[in-house]
Amino acid sequence: MSQGKFIAFEGGEGAGKSTQARLLAAALEARGIGCVVTREPGGTPGAEAIRGLLLGMDGEGWHARAEALLFAAARSDHVERLILPAMAEGKWVICDRFVDSSRAYQGGGGGLSDAEVLDLHRIGSRGLLPDLTLLIEVSPMVARSRAMARDVDGADRIGGRDESYHAKVAAAFARFAEAEPERFARISGDGAIDVVHRGVLSALVPLLGDA
Ligand code: TYD
Repeated sequence: MSQGKFIAFEGGEGAGKSTQARLLAAALEARGIGCVVTREPGGTPGAEAIRGLLLGMDGEGWHARAEALLFAAARSDHVERLILPAMAEGKWVICDRFVDSSRAYQGGGGGLSDAEVLDLHRIGSRGLLPDLTLLIEVSPMVARSRAMARDVDGADRIGGRDESYHAKVAAAFARFAEAEPERFARISGDGAIDVVHRGVLSALVPLLGDA
């Protein structure tokens, strides 16, 4: 049996990544490809427990370096216990956020260097990278109105950071996609759900060729 592929969705808050991840899995399943849809931080019991520590904590929250270590620890458990075993079984893993989120949020937004974030990833997750990363980009106005509609009870600890933080995150994602065009596909998330989904499917064509 051939190894499954690993697809990540990335982007800022309110980009519609989780909806697109579900739609992609349904489209792949319809072609007979078994999928696992998962998310970060989370995906395993241990990583979900760390998610609670990261996103739910009251008070001053974590120092940027501690935050980066916790994301890397959650990812490590997720990679070892869910992502690699599923791929070994031939399943495609569709993940809502992966290491590029740490590079953009803890690096671009939080001030760690890219090399530091990648070092943590090498230690925690053997440097695993997705076969394809779909960067869903939305204009700041669309992101704001979607986040407001979604987070009626208030944003989580990281989502609620100020606009300059989120602008740095978006700029970092764009830089990564420019630097590694073979690993990223950039898709506008401003349109209707089915329009974005069609963009996602077109970006998948090269990978489907050898599935
Ligand atoms: P989530 O509710 O999943 O947000 P979204 O729906 O926008 O993806 O919360 C995840 C939050 O954690 C989000 O604000 C981004 C942040 N995050 C990081 O800061 N670093 C990371 O490595 C990951 C995976 C997420």
